[in-house]
Amino acid sequence: MSHNSFGHLFRVTTFGESHGPAIGAVVDGCPPRLTFRREDVQAALDKRRPGQSRFTTQRKEPDEVEILSGVIEAEDGTLTTTGTPIALLIRNVDQRSKDYSNIATSYRPGHADYTYDVKYGVRDHRGGGRSSARETASRVAAGAIARLVAPRVAIRGALVAMGEIEIDRTRWDWSEIDNNPFFCPDPVAAKKMEGYLDGIRKSGSSVGAMIEIVAEGAPAGLGAPIYGKLDADLACAFMSINAVKGVEIGAGMEVARLTGEQNADEMRAGNDGRPVFLSNKAGGVLGGISTGQPIVARFAVKPTSSILTPRRSVDQTGAEVDVSTKGRHDPCVGIRAVPVGEAMMAIVLADHVLRHRGQVG
Ligand SMILES: Cc1cc2nc3c(=O)[nH]c(=O)nc-3n(C[C@H](O)[C@H](O)[C@H](O)COP(=O)(O)O)c2cc1C
Repeated sequence: MSHNSFGHLFRVTTFGESHGPAIGAVVDGCPPRLTFRREDVQAALDKRRPGQSRFTTQRKEPDEVEILSGVIEAEDGTLTTTGTPIALLIRNVDQRSKDYSNIATSYRPGHADYTYDVKYGVRDHRGGGRSSARETASRVAAGAIARLVAPRVAIRGALVAMGEIEIDRTRWDWSEIDNNPFFCPDPVAAKKMEGYLDGIRKSGSSVGAMIEIVAEGAPAGLGAPIYGKLDADLACAFMSINAVKGVEIGAGMEVARLTGEQNADEMRAGNDGRPVFLSNKAGGVLGGISTGQPIVARFAVKPTSSILTPRRSVDQTGAEVDVSTKGRHDPCVGIRAVPVGEAMMAIVLADHVLRHRGQVG
């Protein structure tokens, strides 16, 4: 596997398997003299950590980050980047390989068991090895470093739909995100999700979700046409997250139903010489370049494929089998995908800030 790095100038390489001793990321290209604290990275990881409510997997991974290189630590704990690779290590402490013994030779429908086997001829069935979303913890740690590159950009994520429950956008309140276990900005929808997901969880099933990531304060001009368009890189970043099957920027798929008048974001003269946009159907990107408006992206996360309900499948010999996955799995992986999406937005923007600097000075 040679494709474990993401980004050009701000480059993140992740390593490790869910049931190995550790996972982690090496962040190369981070500019020197940026300051942060280990707790900043830890706080990002804590947001993604499993076992925080009954709605996520009960695996007890503390996900404590160790920063092995690329920084100088002051006596008060402040870390200053040196411009050299920053290695971030997270030890695995709660692996239970036996949870996966029943899928050692069978393929879970909807998971990557079959494709990893057919491609590599060998697969780590314990938790899915590299296909496990445990890898996304490394991205979240790297995302915390990425945020240092563009500190004035506020990146926030929200769960805007779960199965048949959608938020009412008129009730969107960012301060509600931390008041419910779903990162949901609509308190009424969040309440409904509780009962709904309890039912899904108790029946051993799972459900999908839609996540929205918003970056406010990004300057106009980020993006590298033609093949490094900002929206194209965002789509790649979000689609690379486990279980993501669809990505939208701005109005997204909805544009197919709009007229030119409805879609074009009209402009008026602003006070500072820059235009003011009257709407944001473009999601903050035109021609692959940021407009200075909020950058808005959504991605659809499929239901967890490891479910208790027996599903028809085949094993490695080609024999037909029924597969039911015991072990500990999230009933809605979309919830913990929220901080992963925030991290990928931060990584793409950090890379583009540096690429923009390289292109225009
Ligand atoms: C945060 C997060 C946690 C996940 N946890 C699980 C899990 O516990 N069980 C599972 O079957 N899939 C889980 N997934 C999804 C699988 O990793 C993913 O479906 C699998 O790697 C196949 O890749 P694909 O769905 O992108 O095709 C998780 C995804 C995310 C984003």
